[in-house]
Amino acid sequence: MSKLRLGVNIDHVATVRNARGEGYPDPVRAAEMALAAGADGVTAHLREDRRHISDADIDALAVICRRRGRPLNFEMAVTAEMEAIALAHKPHAACLVPERREEVTTEGGLDVAGGHNRIAPVVQRLADAGIRVSCFIDADLTQVAASRAAGAAVVELHTGAYCQAVRERSPEATHLLENLKAAASEAHRLGLEVHAGHGIDYETVKAVAAIPEVMELNIGHFLIGEAIFIGLGPAIQRMRALMDEARAPANSAPEFAKSYSK
Ligand code: PXP
Repeated sequence: MSKLRLGVNIDHVATVRNARGEGYPDPVRAAEMALAAGADGVTAHLREDRRHISDADIDALAVICRRRGRPLNFEMAVTAEMEAIALAHKPHAACLVPERREEVTTEGGLDVAGGHNRIAPVVQRLADAGIRVSCFIDADLTQVAASRAAGAAVVELHTGAYCQAVRERSPEATHLLENLKAAASEAHRLGLEVHAGHGIDYETVKAVAAIPEVMELNIGHFLIGEAIFIGLGPAIQRMRALMDEARAPANSAPEFAKSYSK
């Protein structure tokens, strides 16, 4: 199986910074450390309420990613403001996410099926600017097909429900993992690249990483939390090692080689 890419989401470094209104810890420094520790790319979500990542962070992250030739994955709500920021920076990738101001985190996937007329033109304009567009969706075959119809190149499957079920030792976990596998397989059949993320920790990463169609994981909150105890570099290295174990030849299935090329 091909090597799985790891995007490290550095939003919560900014959460800690913003708690005191100081200039530290600096998410840009965290991004540099993440890349040095084995992350393939940097992921950041500029929320409409700017609760963590700021516009200045995105400016700086775009510069360091470009300088190092590494992908920046810009998570964004489907709004005119975010679209303008994406088009100004032209990051390697944009991931369209649903956003509700009162939510603690991105609690569910984007309703691409219900929002086709609003979402498809945004996908088109971003793609025309050379940005690889993904839709962050629940593991739902209707949403997979709708993402394809909207013109997305990638779907990122929301792993939050599965990861939470594992943490709660819920019997639902098995069924939720099957849904992720089915959605990944269908997306691949439709020609979409498959990513996954949300809520992933050391315990849940291997089952997700073992889904052969998945090409990239985006992981944030757990890694930033773990960094408090063991440091960001070692936390990323441990996650990377677990991902590699899950993709080792013994667990091998078909080859889905595709690599970052921009
Ligand atoms: N992928 C997407 C689209 C997200 O919105 C998030 C959270 O910002 C993540 C991945 C990372 O999730 P977590 O921080 O729970 O690892």
